[in-house]
Amino acid sequence: MTAQPATGGIQQGFRSVTANFAGNVADPTPIYREKRRTDPVMEGDILAELGVPPIFGNPRQRPVYTLFRHADIGAVLRDNETYISRLIGEGLGSFVGNFMLTAMDGDYHRRMRGLLQPSFMPNVLKAWRTELIDPVIRGEYVAPLVPRGRADLIADMGLGFPVRVIYAILGFPADDLKGQELFAGMALKILAGPKRDPEAAAQARKEALEVSQALYDYVLPVVRARRASGAVDNSLMSRLIRSEFEGERLTDEQVTDFTRMLLPAAAETTTRTFGTLMVLLLERPELLERIKADRSLISKAIDESVRYEPVATFKARECVRDVEIGGVKIPAGSILSMVVHSANRDEEVFENPDTFDIDRKQKPSFGFGYGVHMCIGMFVAKAEVESAVNAILDMMPNVRFDPDLPKAEISGVGLRGPAAVNVVWDVPA
Ligand code: HEM
Repeated sequence: MTAQPATGGIQQGFRSVTANFAGNVADPTPIYREKRRTDPVMEGDILAELGVPPIFGNPRQRPVYTLFRHADIGAVLRDNETYISRLIGEGLGSFVGNFMLTAMDGDYHRRMRGLLQPSFMPNVLKAWRTELIDPVIRGEYVAPLVPRGRADLIADMGLGFPVRVIYAILGFPADDLKGQELFAGMALKILAGPKRDPEAAAQARKEALEVSQALYDYVLPVVRARRASGAVDNSLMSRLIRSEFEGERLTDEQVTDFTRMLLPAAAETTTRTFGTLMVLLLERPELLERIKADRSLISKAIDESVRYEPVATFKARECVRDVEIGGVKIPAGSILSMVVHSANRDEEVFENPDTFDIDRKQKPSFGFGYGVHMCIGMFVAKAEVESAVNAILDMMPNVRFDPDLPKAEISGVGLRGPAAVNVVWDVPA
């Protein structure tokens, strides 16, 4: 079997999304530290100042306030009646036909989440893990790399497996490369959509909508055929077709829309989380040895990596009534931009927040969200990353940074992670 490196198109798409959300500083943590101290509820949009496009739409030019403290952000994410998510639908959500769980509110969100959530519970995941996730990652991504002795863990693995796994979980055939390409390209085009410059935004939006429509046209007949054949298997698509909550069921169009919505949620976030964790571990050889000897620590390492270096670094909500946060009056209709990266380093909550410490006492961090919109795919994402790390530790002996290539760096303001993770290992005799 040959390795399945990401194609040039996907790599280019990844680079373009990285550039889109990179912002104008490599590491904003000192800025956030200062803001938490001096201006924790800031009038204005820090992301605009840092050169990152918004994921929310703001056609009515509502005022924006930025929150930096863990307590304030947690309170907003917990109160989904005062702070709602529809603004995501006016931004990123508008590229995917607006069937985006993150952009839904109130009872509609509760009902739709009720239909989707059972398919993501650990009992379902258990079968996917042994039948799909582990064999795909080990067999298709790591095994073919082993004889090479060197790889870029992003280009050669990380860009490929999250899409491949979601594709397999949904129940698409393994040899359908056209579909997979479409899936991967789609995820990246949607994420490249938001822009600050209006001309670039119009062009990117046009491209995102085209690819989004192409994917819809591709998936809908598959959903119809699956329903017609009884949808009896264990795949995510069949589970969604069979799902029932409070007497309601998903239509073919909604299953198609959900499938499409999964891509920007599930692919790139997992790629970057995997890359970030690998960098944090490779930078700490002693910790890597400890984890090699006790694999139960991988789960803790993922949680700490999602706190310390969250991939999705900010969240947005709109407030539906006048509120006061930290003594600042915020009028109804304002947008709250919340810096997760800052909350996760808040010294009021985390001891030595700027230290990567997998043994720290677990407290809620917001890297997988918080409250009613908390990531529905968290267990899938963690299972994938855990599987990938286990496979690397088992099959790439003495894995370490490639001394001949630039060392990986975690950077970016809007989306954080490494652009490449070049490693070498001892090729087994
Ligand atoms: C490490 C990878 C991942 C990260 C860091 C991540 C992060 C997040 C975050 C922060 C949210 C909350 C959004 C908000 O509050 O507005 C979220 C929601 C969501 N995620 Fe993930 N995610 C990851 C992987 C996945 C995967 C693999 C899937 C699907 C298989 C997925 C599906 C979703 C969905 C559907 C939502 C919307 C939930 C709702 O609004 O009720 N995510 N994710």
